[in-house]
Formats: sequence, structure tokens, C-alpha cells
Amino acid sequence: MEKKRIYATRNIPGLTEWAKNNGQYLVEHNTEERNLTPSELMTEAKKSHALITMLSDEIDKKLIDANQHLEVITNYAVGTNNISISEATRLGIPIGNTPDVLTEATADLALTLLLNISRNVPVAWEQVRKGNWTSWEPARYNGTELKKKTVGLIGFGRIGQAFARKLWDLWKCPIVVWPRQSAKKLDLDFPFRVVEEDEFFKLSEIVSLHCPLTQDTTGIINKEFIDKMENPFFFINTARGACHIEDDLIKGLEEEKLLGVGLDVTDPEPMAKGAPLLKNSKVMVLPHIGSATNETRSEMTKMCLENIVAAFSKRPLPYSVFDPFKTT
Ligand code: DGY
Repeated sequence: MEKKRIYATRNIPGLTEWAKNNGQYLVEHNTEERNLTPSELMTEAKKSHALITMLSDEIDKKLIDANQHLEVITNYAVGTNNISISEATRLGIPIGNTPDVLTEATADLALTLLLNISRNVPVAWEQVRKGNWTSWEPARYNGTELKKKTVGLIGFGRIGQAFARKLWDLWKCPIVVWPRQSAKKLDLDFPFRVVEEDEFFKLSEIVSLHCPLTQDTTGIINKEFIDKMENPFFFINTARGACHIEDDLIKGLEEEKLLGVGLDVTDPEPMAKGAPLLKNSKVMVLPHIGSATNETRSEMTKMCLENIVAAFSKRPLPYSVFDPFKTT
């Protein structure tokens, strides 16, 4: 009998070991340390029964239409904005993702960015590396304490809540949440307030994004948003790069409306070499490493494979975005 082919567009932790113990499947992966081109992706999809895709792969209508034989596509990420869910739904192809497991890792990274930019770590470290640490400085690198700073969150799902909880536990930061009906009903073990936009602009001293990329959140952090903010603020984005407008961030920094910017995501990714933001000492940019811990990435592999095994036996996916086998 022909073995079902599982193809991963990158070599993900634990995949080779799993393949050794699951010889009933043909498990293959991209052996190069780069993303596949759209035509390479098309070629691999044609030969596969299941795909494990990265958030950097564009799984668009064209690819899905040409590969209606696929039994499942499972994204090695919680976000699935790289996949045309509407087309997969139309054709009944189940789509999986990796929720929950990366929540703490991503919230930790948002906190890392916030601590780094609020204490001027990027510029201080740069000076040390350049050999410019010549004396103790009474005033040169002074930053801002986070104690009781009001944090404005856009997106208050699992990751936003985890980030908020950390800030509350560490520094009793008041938490205000960008208006969203569903957030009002949450019963959490730390205080937060879902506020109207005006109050969000009035109170926030830190703004952090934890929202999916949708029509509503594309470009949400733009000049208009920055101008409406009443306090100079730190901005953190660990969600999706297309949620902010890079040129507007630069302007906001120049006008000192932004105190610092910490990005784990950019648009495009990778960020262009020499991008103006990289020249600003108030900015820290990381290469989309929100979920990059050994523990989390291994769990993400397991979740993708559990999704695939379920789809092969026409069972509901344990971790799904769209699943035709789910009855409720
Ligand atoms: C995801 O998995 O969607 C996140 O971007 C991880 O950082």
C-alpha cells in the first residue's frame, strides 16, 4: 500500500525522530535553511497527503485549489493569516494550528522586548560591543521603571492575557483593553478594564499588540493612532508586522510620541537590511522568535503531527482552525 506522505516546509524539531517511530508514513521536509519558493511549495504539495506549513509560507487560493487532494494542512504557528481559510473551508480541507502551547513563550518575549527598550538595553549593549564603555555613566542610559505603568492591550486572547498577568504580578500595572465585546465577559484572576477608545488613548503608557491580523487590525498602529495617544508610550508588537506602519513608527519616535519600539514581527519578514527603524537606538527588532523555546517548538511539532494522524483517520483535529470532521 502506498505510504501517505507528510511534508514539512522546514525541518521542525522532533520531526525526524517521530518519522523513525512512525514508518507507516513517508515523512519528508525541506532540507535547506530557507523558505520554499511558491513553485517549490506547489511541487511538494502535489506529492503530499499532508502539509506542515510555516507562517512564512503563503498558502493561498491558488495553492489550495491546485491541491484539493490534501487531507490536512497544519500550520506550525497559532496565527493562520498566511492561509486562505475561506478557500480551505470551501473545499473541505481541514486546517490545523498550534494554540496554547506558545502562549507563555510569546508573552515572555513581549516582556523581554518591553524590559529591553524601557531600560535602553539595545543601545547600552551596542556601546559595550563597540568598545565604547569608557566610564560609569550617571545619566547616559537611564530608562523608565515599569511599576504601575498603564498597559493598553490590543488583543486580549490567551497571549494578551498571559502578558497582562505577568505585568500585574510583577509591577501591579493597570491593564486597559481595547474595546471588544467578548473581552468584557472574561473572568480572570487579575484586574483589567475593557475601555472605550478615548480612554485607551488617554490612559495607556505602554501599548502591546496580541491580536490576529484581520481587516480591523491591519495598520492599526499608524499616525492617527500615535497622534491620539495622550502620553508618550512604549510600543510592543509580537503579533503580526502588518498591524503597524513602519514609517509612522519612525515619525512617532522622531517626534518623541513613542518612547521606544520593540518588534518581534515586521512587514515584510525578514525586515529589509538597513531599514530606517534599525538605525534608531530606541528600537529593538527580533526575528519573529515569540514561540522559539525548545519546549514550545517540540510541542508544536507534536500538535501538528497529532492533527495529521487525526485527519488521516477522518477524526476531528485536536487543534484546528477549520475542521469539516468536527460535529459541533
Ligand atoms: C504564531 O505562532 O503565530 C506566533 O507568531 C509565534 O510567535
